[in-house]
Amino acid sequence: MYICNSIIFNSKSELSFITFTYMRLIIEPDYENVSKWAAAYVAARINEAKPTEEHPFVLGCPTGSSPLGMYRELIRLNKEGVVSFKNVVTFNMDEYCGIPRDHEQSYYTFMWTNFFNQIDIKKENVNILNGNAKNIEAECAAYEAKIASYGGIDLFLGGVGPDGHIAFNEPGSALTSKTRQKTLTRDTIIANSRFFDNNVDLVPKTALTVGVGTIMAAKSVLLIVNGHNKARALKHGVEGGISQMWTISALQMHPKALIVADDAACEELKVGTYRYFKDIESANLDPSSQL
Ligand code: GLP
Repeated sequence: MYICNSIIFNSKSELSFITFTYMRLIIEPDYENVSKWAAAYVAARINEAKPTEEHPFVLGCPTGSSPLGMYRELIRLNKEGVVSFKNVVTFNMDEYCGIPRDHEQSYYTFMWTNFFNQIDIKKENVNILNGNAKNIEAECAAYEAKIASYGGIDLFLGGVGPDGHIAFNEPGSALTSKTRQKTLTRDTIIANSRFFDNNVDLVPKTALTVGVGTIMAAKSVLLIVNGHNKARALKHGVEGGISQMWTISALQMHPKALIVADDAACEELKVGTYRYFKDIESANLDPSSQL
């Protein structure tokens, strides 16, 4: 028997269908445990949904260094038969404009190299925006329509930029925004130049991205926030007011949002906030406890 908000549930899976109704924050000691926790969560949600070809599990996927450890762990779980992606449909968050699809830093290349090529996903179930589409508006509208045709995204995974952006929803993005083209801020161009020989001139200046509203429309959201350079973004996401200047903070309005962070990213949280989440999640911190 499980009790939540004074309602009694008969099983753990029954309980997991209810909304969190607050933003959960899981604090792990280091990146390895963050990755293991996130991967175990994804695998557990897919398995719990028992997806079929007719009713696939719909997963939103991010790029960047933050999710790499989780992808590695999911590949391992897939190879060990713990989770299958045969009936999983994916929608990536964003894609650069103006570089070829097979450019070594395109998000298309990133996803196939670091994840899709190593799991049992069907090619036709992978969706990534075409940053070189002739008609950008049509491309973005078709992406939203395709997500809707599956009944929405079950679990949107993400990272966060040092300026608090989710996907490429830079500061100032409307919190109701949908998929569109976005101009990248100087901050993001500098941060991402590490993938382009540390040369800011080589970083694309625009990208296609799902909107804050697209992420908010997902049934659940999980963000990975690790490293000291994300500490300000995490503070604004967890303790700040809801603001278009820190788009991560919109997730405070989501009924089922979850952040998995490492200790380093918690540097700017109040001691009380840190202890509060460590306390209420104390029974849920072991990554393997979810599988
Ligand atoms: C890019 C991506 C974001 C990602 C961010 C952080 O801007 N569009 O989706 O969250 O980078 O990247 P990293 O995880 O490498 O710090």
